Amino acid sequence: MRTALIFGVTGQDGSYLSELLLDKGYRVVGVYRRSSVDTTERLRGFLENPNFELMCGDVADSGSVYNIVDTIQPDECYNLAAQSHVGVSFEQPEATFLINAVGPLNILEAIRRRSPDTRFYQASTSEMFGDNYTEKPKPIDATTSLSNTDKFQDEDTAFAPRSPYAVAKVAAHNLVHTYREAYGLHATCGILFNHESERRGENFVTRKITKYVASLKCLMDDTGVKDLDVLGSHRREVLYWNNQDGQEVEIKYLELGNIDSHRDWGHAADYVRGMWLMVQEESPRDYVLATGSTHSVREFLDAAFKSIGVEDWSKYVVINPKFFRPAEVDYLKGNPAKAETALKWTRDISFDDLAQRMVESDIQNIRNE
Ligand code: GDD
Repeated sequence: MRTALIFGVTGQDGSYLSELLLDKGYRVVGVYRRSSVDTTERLRGFLENPNFELMCGDVADSGSVYNIVDTIQPDECYNLAAQSHVGVSFEQPEATFLINAVGPLNILEAIRRRSPDTRFYQASTSEMFGDNYTEKPKPIDATTSLSNTDKFQDEDTAFAPRSPYAVAKVAAHNLVHTYREAYGLHATCGILFNHESERRGENFVTRKITKYVASLKCLMDDTGVKDLDVLGSHRREVLYWNNQDGQEVEIKYLELGNIDSHRDWGHAADYVRGMWLMVQEESPRDYVLATGSTHSVREFLDAAFKSIGVEDWSKYVVINPKFFRPAEVDYLKGNPAKAETALKWTRDISFDDLAQRMVESDIQNIRNE
């Protein structure tokens, strides 16, 4: 039985990766950070699985990382632990650097000294490209699903980080290369573009939108108000309607920041398969995982609201400057050709399906409350 060690197991990707590896017959040891509240909600489906265990630790604490790696001697180790919110990294740059750069350094050192045969996966990110892209594409392999060929990012695009988050991720990325070359570790970086899901954290833009849309749908169902009935008596923070009986129904506006930025959004379940495939390679190489299509936040709003039958979302949304970032990455579109060709990596879930699944799941969550 192979053993996988996952730092950051309680996050979206940690939960999907654990499921995948347990299905493949691995013993999975997940590392979580101590907290006074329960952080294992995403793990409920397999917490009782005899091949799954939890260990308490922190990537920012070298002693705990050494101890865990030394004890477990994993065949594969995945670092998914991060301060993963780009906006928050401007407010907490030092903590972000410690977790996102020193954290992986601690794991690399622990592997080098205590378990050098362990294969290591580092969660690198498309944020590292910043505002840089490749303008004129190389001839695109026939198998690629790159939707159009104007500009995109791939494994050869130079990094131009624009946030403390991205700077820390570039540092970690370079450390992985250094340890691979200097010490011969089997260490791989997956440069993953945005990947979302029903388990996405609620302060990322897609989930923030789908949670709102779900609560709107439930309110409409419960009060009998249809989108067309909205009277639009706008006050400052709350949108008021009258329902058919003349009673007031209210819902807060959805407050967002930059809705013109573009992201290449896929589903996390597809992306963890790519992580595993990378680690199975004979020699470690870096890969971009992306869908090859880009959409604006406006388009995600279109898809999410449309899934509950609302065509015009503009009356529900207000722009609040508080959600703008000091420096923004305006446009991300990845070219997954290398992963599609070499790893035979494919994706099952489209952009529209993604929005719809997230809205449906949030409706279900509200109904179950
Ligand atoms: N979070 C958030 N909240 N983002 C907003 C909002 C809002 O209210 N309004 C607009 N946006 C914009 C952001 O400015 C950004 O351009 C875009 O929506 C996506 O923001 P996030 O969902 O927070 O994701 P991200 O792209 O910054 O980062 C995610 O993807 C990276 C990969 O490219 C995270 O998962 C990172 O950890 C990951 O590395």
